Amino acid sequence: MNTGGLYNYDVEKIRKDFPIFEQEVYGKPLTFLDSAASSQKPRAVIDEVANCYASEYANIHRGGYYLSQALTSKYEVARETVKNYIGAKSSKEIIFVRGATEAINLVAQTWGRQNLGPNDEIILSRMEHHSNIVPWQILRDEKNITITVSPIDDKANFLLEDYARLLSEKTKLVAITHISNALGTITPIKEIIKLAHNVGALVLVDGCQSLPHMGIDVNELDADFYVFSGHKIYGPTGVGALYGKQALLENMPPYQGGGDMIRSVTFEKTTYNELPHKFEAGTPNIVGGIGLAAAIDYVNTLGIENICDHEQELLEYALEQIKEVKGMELRGQADNMAGMLSFTMESAHPHDIGTILDQDGIAIRAGHHCAQPVMDFMNIPATARASFGLYNTTNDIDRLINGLHKVNRIFA
Ligand code: ALA
Repeated sequence: MNTGGLYNYDVEKIRKDFPIFEQEVYGKPLTFLDSAASSQKPRAVIDEVANCYASEYANIHRGGYYLSQALTSKYEVARETVKNYIGAKSSKEIIFVRGATEAINLVAQTWGRQNLGPNDEIILSRMEHHSNIVPWQILRDEKNITITVSPIDDKANFLLEDYARLLSEKTKLVAITHISNALGTITPIKEIIKLAHNVGALVLVDGCQSLPHMGIDVNELDADFYVFSGHKIYGPTGVGALYGKQALLENMPPYQGGGDMIRSVTFEKTTYNELPHKFEAGTPNIVGGIGLAAAIDYVNTLGIENICDHEQELLEYALEQIKEVKGMELRGQADNMAGMLSFTMESAHPHDIGTILDQDGIAIRAGHHCAQPVMDFMNIPATARASFGLYNTTNDIDRLINGLHKVNRIFA
């Protein structure tokens, strides 16, 4: 984990690294407040991806010729970059996948199918993304396990004491978000993991929203599995990683069969490749993995702690400004929150809020954010969500707030 930055945080200068901000939307400057869905890409990532296809491309792990060997090395260096960034002990613990969704399905279908049966229990939080609910429901229906939901309060705080009471010798896995994508709550993940380990349960952390916004050390957290998507940390789409403790991964059966994940194949018997290749069947997203490493290198040049401080300052500023908006109801108000405002307004439906803002070049997400159970808990169908990235400014917040006043004027 890199914690320092190379220069003071100069957001105006940093924005120039992102070509998307050179354009206008409907003749207005672009204010991009949807980084929780997917973040914009710096030139360093775009150039790396383009360069890879233009001058370095070949399949990897298969060719004896120069291009293939050179790109194989680069791909494995990319894995090393991910390993170092999240504090894993070995690059064998880093499995490249399509994204967090695939990573969670992988764990459910391998570790879960192998280890869980009737009377075993998985604990999820009420705030989980569908990708950390549905794979476990598929497993529940096959294996007859129980899914228990750990509660939150009305402000979207994770209730640690209630969670502690749910844990028992039946609990075999806790699968939980580090930061809620729908409400911004930062869960007390270290305590959650410690308490789960006290009853012998493993913990899978959904790190989609935490990796781009705070320093992560999986080893220090003692997470058993940690999953994330590259496109939320300024990297390409279609690539992400599953971190798993080596001993766990060694004992898990393969997820998909195909090329590269085998050591030898006959019609009678197949033996499997070593980690991490055992879980990487078929030609991987080669350029995606390399682009992800470029994104991590870029984040490292800024320093993740500087990014975190910047986004927290923006959050404080935004929380002050938003109080001035009439009829505003902030749905995520946890004591510990990431840079995100998830809200409803008396005057307008979230989709109408999104449409009015869009007309001024302000991009937010409106909807259930793939977290319907927490919307049900709040008795609402949707929220409007403005989520921050390393390139946002107080000017973006001002434009958002002005847009929300406009919503009130239009729908008054
Ligand atoms: N999970 C993404 C979001 O929160 C797509 O918007």
